[in-house]
Amino acid sequence: MTNSATVPHPITAPVTPAPGNYLWWQEGIIYQIYPRSFMDGNNDGVGDLKGILSRLDYLQWLGVDAIWLSPIFSSPMADFGYDISDYTAVHPLFGTMEDFERLLEEVHRLGMKLILDLVPNHSSGQHPWFLESRSSRDNPKRDWYLWQNPAPDGGPPNNWLSVFGGLAWEWDEKTGQYYYHAFLKEQPDLNWRNPEVQQAMLDVMRFWLGKGVDGFRVDVIYHVIKDAQLRNNPPNPDYRQGMSAYDQQIPAYSTDQPEVHEIVAMMRGVMDEYSERVMIGEIYLPIHRLVTYYGENNRGAHLPFNFQLIVLPWKAREIALAIDQYEGALPGGSWPNWVLGNHDQPRIATRVGKAQARVAAALLLTLRGTPTLYYGDETGMRDVPIPPGQMVDPQGLNGGESRDPQRTPMQWDSSDNAGFTTGEPWLPLSENYKEENVEVQREDPASMLSLYRRLIALRRAEPALHIGDYAPAPADGDIVAYLREREGKRFLVVLNMGEQPVEYKPEQFRFNGRIVLGTDHRREGEELHHCLKLSGNEGVVIELRAEK
Ligand code: NOJ
Repeated sequence: MTNSATVPHPITAPVTPAPGNYLWWQEGIIYQIYPRSFMDGNNDGVGDLKGILSRLDYLQWLGVDAIWLSPIFSSPMADFGYDISDYTAVHPLFGTMEDFERLLEEVHRLGMKLILDLVPNHSSGQHPWFLESRSSRDNPKRDWYLWQNPAPDGGPPNNWLSVFGGLAWEWDEKTGQYYYHAFLKEQPDLNWRNPEVQQAMLDVMRFWLGKGVDGFRVDVIYHVIKDAQLRNNPPNPDYRQGMSAYDQQIPAYSTDQPEVHEIVAMMRGVMDEYSERVMIGEIYLPIHRLVTYYGENNRGAHLPFNFQLIVLPWKAREIALAIDQYEGALPGGSWPNWVLGNHDQPRIATRVGKAQARVAAALLLTLRGTPTLYYGDETGMRDVPIPPGQMVDPQGLNGGESRDPQRTPMQWDSSDNAGFTTGEPWLPLSENYKEENVEVQREDPASMLSLYRRLIALRRAEPALHIGDYAPAPADGDIVAYLREREGKRFLVVLNMGEQPVEYKPEQFRFNGRIVLGTDHRREGEELHHCLKLSGNEGVVIELRAEK
C-alpha cells in the first residue's frame, strides 16, 4: 500500500443556497429504483432501462422529483451489479447506451432528475484493472488494489472481516500475496491512496456527469480509505448471537478513516465542475460520525444518507430522540435527509407492519430534509419469502441475511407476474400481488398508494414541509410530534407509533387547526381544538390556525 497522497481541496462555492433559493435536491423527493425489479421491457425476466422508460409516467403521477438507479453497468453480477467490470458501459441486461441516453432525456423532459450509483470502493475481479493488477507483482496496476504479503505466520495480513462473511483477505497463489475485499472476493477493493486510481474514478464521474446525469449515490463511501498501518480491528463488546459475523469486530481501522474526507472532498470537487449536481454518500455510521461527511465548510457530500429510520428500533421515544439529535448535530448550512428503505434492508411494511407503515410514510414525508423512497414501498410491498433453492443474494448464500425478499418485482397490476414481465421473473413475486398492486391501489382513496400520493402532493405544495423549519412538539409514550413552519404557516404532525389509541392534549402547548392529511383519509378536514384522538397506528398533519 502506498502512502497517503496529498489531496488538494477544491475551491468551490459553499453549498448553502441564498435564502429563498433552494436546490432541486433540497426541495425534492428521491425515488430509488432497483433496475432488475422495476419493469421488464424485453420480457427476459429482468427489469431494464426500456422498462423504466415505460413507467416514467407513473413516477410523474406519483410526484417524485428524482430517480436513483442502482447499478446498471457492465458486471459479472456476483453482487447484482455492485461488482463493476466497466464503469462507463451499460450492462446488456439493462439495455444499451442509447437506451440510457433516451431514458435520461425523457426523465429531463418530464422535469425529473436522474441519479446513478457510483461504486468507487471496489471493482469486479473481472475488471481489466484487476486482471492486470493480479497478473504480476510488477504490473503497473499492481498498486491499484490492496496487495499485501502474508503475516509472518503465513496467514492473512490482519484480522479484518468481509461484510459478507469470512476473512476480507484472499490469497493469490500465482503472485504470493493477499488482496483485500471488504465485500465478496469477486469485489477487490481499489487503493484510493493511489493518485492514478483517484484520477481514473474521477474520470468515470466526469463521463456520466458530462452526459447530463444529475448526481451520484456513492456506494460505501466511508470504506474507501483504510488504515495505512493495517492495524487489527478490535473485538465488538456488544456482539451478540444472531448478529452477522462481520459485527464481531468494530471496523475501527477498515472504515471511516480520517483521510477519507480528502477523497470525499475530491469527488465533490468534480461534482462542482458541473452545475446543480448532487452527491449522496451511503454511510452506516452513528449520527456524530455521519455528519462529518458533510465535510469541512460543507464541501463533502451534499447528502450523507441518514439511515436512522432503518437502523433504530421502531419506538416513538427512540425515533423522536434521533430526530432531535440529528437536527442538533447537523453542521450549519448543511441539508438533512431521511431514508426509510433500500435494497439492502427488510422493507418497512415488513419491519413495522402494514398499518404502521402508513405512519412511517407520514413521518418520512413530513420531516425536514430530502426523503428517499424505495420502489414498491409506496404500495406497501412486503418482503417476499424466497423458497430455499431460489436464493440468489450472495450475502444470503454466504450465511448472512438474504436481501432477495426486498428486491422482488414491482407489483403493477393483477395480470400474470403483476405486469412486471411476461417472461420468468428473476425473483418470485408476492402471492398477494393480485390484491396489492399499483392498478388496484390507484383507484382506492384508502390505499397506501393514495396516501403516499397525497403526502407527496402536500409536501410539494407547502414550503413549510419541503423547506420549512423543524421544531419538536411536546409528546410522550407512543407519540412523535413536531412542528414545521415557513413564513408564518405552521403544521403540527402527530404520529401514533403504537397500536393503542391515544389522546394528544399536551399541557405545555395549545393548538387549534384542521387536519389536512391523515393516514385515515376520512379525517381530513376535521377541526381540532387542543385535543386530538388518534387510533392505534394513526397519524395526522394539522394545519395550525395563525395565532392572533
Ligand atoms: C452497498 C450496496 O448497497 C450493497 O447492495 C452492496 O452489496 C455493497 N454496498 C457492496 O457494493
